[in-house]
Amino acid sequence: MQQLRRNRRLRTNDAIRSLVRENTITPHDFLVPIFVVEGKNLKEEIASMPGYYRYSLDTLKIEIKELWSLGLKSVLLFVKVSDALKDNKGTEALNPDGLMQRAVKTVKETVPEMLVMTDVALDPFSSYGHDGIVENGYIINDETCKVLAEMSLSHAQAGADFVAPSDMMDGRILAMRELLEKENFKNTGIMSYSAKYASAFYGPFRDALDSAPGFGDKKTYQMDFANRDEAIKETLMDIDEGADIVMVKPGLCYLDIVRDIKDAVDVPVAVYQVSGEYAMVKAAAEKGWLDHNAVMLEQVTAIKRAGAQIIASYFAKDVVKLLGN
Ligand code: PBG
Repeated sequence: MQQLRRNRRLRTNDAIRSLVRENTITPHDFLVPIFVVEGKNLKEEIASMPGYYRYSLDTLKIEIKELWSLGLKSVLLFVKVSDALKDNKGTEALNPDGLMQRAVKTVKETVPEMLVMTDVALDPFSSYGHDGIVENGYIINDETCKVLAEMSLSHAQAGADFVAPSDMMDGRILAMRELLEKENFKNTGIMSYSAKYASAFYGPFRDALDSAPGFGDKKTYQMDFANRDEAIKETLMDIDEGADIVMVKPGLCYLDIVRDIKDAVDVPVAVYQVSGEYAMVKAAAEKGWLDHNAVMLEQVTAIKRAGAQIIASYFAKDVVKLLGN
């Protein structure tokens, strides 16, 4: 039979490829993670995340203005606190004048329209580097949820638009939602890290925040990377408890999960392309083994193609600058 269908007709040149392209990346896809530290005039590069920095509140303002001018309208804040402020219960996390609370206010004062999300978890504040309160070597669930709810309220009071719990305790979304409703923060959203795996890809982030677990690992609360059905269970429960946005984390090794969840839910799905994924590309590019920009664009596009509506990525600025040129 004569060949009638030729798929290559749709790939002949850039114009036709652009016309039939199924997914394109824009600045609106991104949520920008930001690391904040105490001090003045600081922009500290993170050793295992080349080109990524911790900002003090004054330099944070400059960064926020730059992000806004690039069309990046949403940030996800993390703070690094000194060891002296850490304890088992994460007491400092509830300080109304704590670093996170001041960081939220700083962003809102600088660019009021910027959407501010805050990380809600105990690990940066925990003397054990765990995401919850430790009792006899175990991370206790229900007491931790109470602190996470208080923490969410404190972030909402500081002006956060969304709180983003990254801890994986059972029932934390319900605890947070109930307290926010009760205190009349009805429009404060929750982006839940619903399917967060116990991953070796978080290494550089733990350097960034000095938050590595002091003993053991996080496998009694974060998910086993061998599991797929469990991601749906976790995610549907979070939606029932009141999550507005759900998230899969990490990104690239978990795109099967992203698609499963995208097909199973009717809320926006976010993906976190994590620190280790960023570090791998930077390291290979430094050695001249990979084309940094090409690989970066391929990766974020793959995340979107898999079903992510929101991409939390350390590459956000790089991608937007690349696309702008
Ligand atoms: C902890 C938290 C982690 C990340 C975000 N929140 C690390 C962990 O679970 O140990 C990782 C993000 C990244 O690697 O980029 N609550």
